[in-house]
Amino acid sequence: MTRHSPPIAVAFCCIFLGSLVHAQPGADQAWLRYQSLKTPAAGALPHAIAVFGRGEVLRAAAKELADALGHPAPSGGPGAALPDHDAFVLGRWQDLQPRFRELGRAPGISGDGFWLKTVRRAGSRPLGGSKASWRGGPRKYWLVIGADEPGVLYGTFALLARIAEGLDVSTLDDRETPSAPIRWVNQWDNLDGSIERGYAGRSIFFDNGSVANDLTRVKEYARLLASIGINGCAINNVNADPRLLQPEYLPQLARVAAAFRAWGVRLAISVDLSSPMSAGGLKTFDPLDPQVKAWWQNTVDVMYRLIPDFGGFVMKADSEGRSGPSKYGRTAADAANVIARALRPHHGVMLYRAFVYNHHLDWRDPKADRAKAAFDYFHPLDGKFLDNVVVQVKHGPIDFQVREPVSPLLGAMAHTNQAIEVQVTQEYTGQQRQLVYLVPMWKEVLDFDVHVDGVTPVKRVVSGQVWKRPLGGYAAVVNVGLDRFWLGHPLAMANLYGYGRLAWNPDLSADEIAKEWTRLTFGNDPQVLDTVSRMLLPSWRIYENYTGPLGLQTLTDITGPHYGPGIESSENNGWGQWHRADRKGVGMDRTVATGTGFIGQYSPEVGRKYESVKECPDDLVLFLHHVPYTFVLHSGKTVIQYLYDSHYAGAEQAATLVEEWKRLQGVIDDARYAEVLRRQEYQAGHAIVWRDAVVNWFHRESGIPDAQGRVGFHPNRMEAEGMQLSGYTPADVTPWETASGGKAIACAGPSPCSASFEWDRPSGTYDLVVEYFDLNNGVSSFDLFVEDRRIDSWAADDHLPSDKMNGHTSTRRTIAGVRLRRGEVLKIVGHPQGGEPAPLDYVEIVPRP
Ligand code: GCU
Repeated sequence: MTRHSPPIAVAFCCIFLGSLVHAQPGADQAWLRYQSLKTPAAGALPHAIAVFGRGEVLRAAAKELADALGHPAPSGGPGAALPDHDAFVLGRWQDLQPRFRELGRAPGISGDGFWLKTVRRAGSRPLGGSKASWRGGPRKYWLVIGADEPGVLYGTFALLARIAEGLDVSTLDDRETPSAPIRWVNQWDNLDGSIERGYAGRSIFFDNGSVANDLTRVKEYARLLASIGINGCAINNVNADPRLLQPEYLPQLARVAAAFRAWGVRLAISVDLSSPMSAGGLKTFDPLDPQVKAWWQNTVDVMYRLIPDFGGFVMKADSEGRSGPSKYGRTAADAANVIARALRPHHGVMLYRAFVYNHHLDWRDPKADRAKAAFDYFHPLDGKFLDNVVVQVKHGPIDFQVREPVSPLLGAMAHTNQAIEVQVTQEYTGQQRQLVYLVPMWKEVLDFDVHVDGVTPVKRVVSGQVWKRPLGGYAAVVNVGLDRFWLGHPLAMANLYGYGRLAWNPDLSADEIAKEWTRLTFGNDPQVLDTVSRMLLPSWRIYENYTGPLGLQTLTDITGPHYGPGIESSENNGWGQWHRADRKGVGMDRTVATGTGFIGQYSPEVGRKYESVKECPDDLVLFLHHVPYTFVLHSGKTVIQYLYDSHYAGAEQAATLVEEWKRLQGVIDDARYAEVLRRQEYQAGHAIVWRDAVVNWFHRESGIPDAQGRVGFHPNRMEAEGMQLSGYTPADVTPWETASGGKAIACAGPSPCSASFEWDRPSGTYDLVVEYFDLNNGVSSFDLFVEDRRIDSWAADDHLPSDKMNGHTSTRRTIAGVRLRRGEVLKIVGHPQGGEPAPLDYVEIVPRP
């Protein structure tokens, strides 16, 4: 007979519906606002919640439901009886099935799945019982059945999301099982509180060498993650600090695990393979050395004594200067397995990253190719990893570029568990200063058919279905920080939400996810829904258009902060992110016939399509082929004209995002409205910096004019170095393409400097644009005068990722609708501060339409 567990004391929390749920100082509620729970439909839901089972996760689920609905409700009472009136009933299948025999014998869910089911019961009067013993009238139960405890939590969030989206939940029969068991996020946080490739403030986990004292934001983060089905979080940089494994650190990690626990998020950490030496004091870290083996076992055992639900480790080895098994002539399988063996008795997993490559490649060697590295290294090891090892593969063969083909390794390891790694943090896609909704990109990757066994999309490879693997799934580098909006740009949260939703169900469309997220984040107003979708959905293509189309990859400064343009930075060095543009042509020949042979790593079906330059999709042509600038694409345009056109189109499209957003003034709250507007206006300006840098560079390199005559033609532009200067001196900008004319002006200070010119065109109303550089080593300020009228003042106080004049710092200020009379003098006064010399590039004066 199945044992019935009694209902726990039910959490009924009476909050007013209008108040924010779980409001934490400084943290935005993201998509857990539950705005629509104020609707009458939600009011008709039951007031009681009964929970069968005792776990912390179940309690969190019940509290979430009670808090969100805010109904004052009677307690379910002691004993094992179901409430005798309408109620939500939460519990695992094994606890609920005996009470609801009508559900049958099999729930049809597994893993962390859930079943939302409404059940009606007639009222019951005990045989011969008096009226007083009448046990209630007909009633209805909203069952949230989990395959396991996390399943109950995920079901609760799913139910709340349906209510918040205004869907009818009066009758439910929805079963969901997540696509894969590993649904993790990685944070690249350092122990000092900084975050590698983090763009939203300092770490929520660490401060000053230790785990942070206040873990409020950590709990909030775990709740957000749980709401989208994420079940693991590795909290530290993959370039791992060995201190984390020292015994004195473990109790601190246990605090983080405790903060995660109620939300079903398992703590994981990144570890360095050299830890037995660096943290353990051994003389070697050779994975086959018995002492090393014992050290890992002991360390892991201690860890599990403190953190019984510890998730496991992530490892980056033999990559970008990290230590690795190659030092001892061992393989990744040797390295992964020694740790996996220690984890196995505790059900922990080892995520070993496939991001292994030589960053000292010979760029003169036409056969050298970083894109081949992961496959070359891991494919021969297929079948050699233990069953609790998961090889974590970046979705593309290079490194989170704006566009790459799918990593061929994802179709090449039939005997190895695999997880796909994506980036929510927008390292190469605008660093959350630019709107780039990445879900369409991930969808393309997940739906891509690797053709290894009939139709085999990547989503079925990583879920383990194709090769019946016991494990597999998803990892995303997220890097939320202490920023109020978690990721900086409020709309960037659509990427975190979308990642979780795809890891749960990769069959969802990018459009569906955008709409869900918008409804939950901003409410169900059709105007908002429409506008936000229209901004999100094309945003990846827009960004690609003005950064690196046709498979060129993001043409950014690859040896610097990976943000603004830096077209040549990828060439002539060993990093291997080459685009091989020269005077005659552009692109990397990766064919089998004449190139690096990378295409040969795909299945024959995929390889055939890619090998032929005629069949190769335009979006990837320059990733896979080297062609002359005059090569004609499927679109009918030459490569060079496409490069010009897409950059002009991209910059125009970025400007339309501002106009789209402005429609929402007064429709959504002021704080989020203003934050997004500020970022979109900045993006529109920076898209022009990108556009000009890329088109000028290719124009100079190819010598081929733009058929539309736009490149280098700026009739409304006044170069700063051509103005009347007082105190300012001209300065070369590096790389040259990131300043108009390759030059700017700088003011050595300490006194202010000025640059002026006479307006010699017709009187009228104009928009004035000032292009200046906002360095991160000072806060200069500027005043703009027309004659003696000061028409604008501003400070260069943004935190852009450079202390030099370049494509990272070039920034645009627009002053709309200025009356100018012919003969008037315009003057900009720059006040340098700190190391920032109030630098100016140009002024553009644009007639108003
Ligand atoms: C990129 C990123 C690094 C990171 C690395 C990785 O190269 O720029 O900061 O360490 O990826 O994924 O390991």
